[in-house]
Amino acid sequence: MTAFAAEIVRASAGDAQDLSVLSAELFPLGCPADTAAADLAAYIDRELTPERFRSLLEDDCNAILVARISSKLAGYAMIARAAAPQPSLANCELRKFYIAPAYHGTGIAHALMEQVLGLAADTPDTGLWLSVFSGNTRAIAFYRRWGFRVTGIHDFLVGSDPQRDFLMERESPAGP
Ligand SMILES: CC(C)(COP(=O)(O)OP(=O)(O)OC[C@H]1O[C@@H](n2cnc3c(N)ncnc32)[C@H](O)[C@@H]1OP(=O)(O)O)[C@@H](O)C(=O)NCCC(=O)NCCS
Repeated sequence: MTAFAAEIVRASAGDAQDLSVLSAELFPLGCPADTAAADLAAYIDRELTPERFRSLLEDDCNAILVARISSKLAGYAMIARAAAPQPSLANCELRKFYIAPAYHGTGIAHALMEQVLGLAADTPDTGLWLSVFSGNTRAIAFYRRWGFRVTGIHDFLVGSDPQRDFLMERESPAGP
């Protein structure tokens, strides 16, 4: 049960600006604390602009969910039809999953994950994979709780900084 009433819906083009602002604010939380500001800025300027979100939203291979509390964006998630960087049974990526710090530990992340898995279950894909910084213990614990397990290690490039990530997989998008 969530302590706050979150409205979770599919994002539309009208959400691109708010998604850009929130994602730029939250992206550093998933990175090592010592990531250089220039590397964070390079990633944010390339990947998290309103234009980038508009183009992601126009592409049928992606789906973005937004969680709003009192009409304000409090988190978002994105799934994409994409192969994992290593051999994997999963072919649907949970590419983004971020909740604003004010709502960590409130259950909103769980409500969002339920909706993500429901959405993924509607696709023909056979499993979900994700990439998470190997030192992000809170996110890793959260994903484990939802049935993801670590199946590999790879480098994720933030600017010019290769960060050591875990590849995590969940066999069935929606199963138990
Ligand atoms: C990852 C995230 C979505 C999880 O949502 P949340 O509301 O914080 O999740 P919870 O409070 O349920 O915590 C998840 C688990 O971590 C544990 N935890 C809490 N604080 C922790 C900490 N500092 N270190 C390690 N584990 C921690 C909780 O006990 C819980 O485990 P449990 O379910 O086995 O009890 C959220 O923290 C977030 O958005 N973080 C910043 C962005 C991010 O890192 N996204 C992932 C990018 S891949």
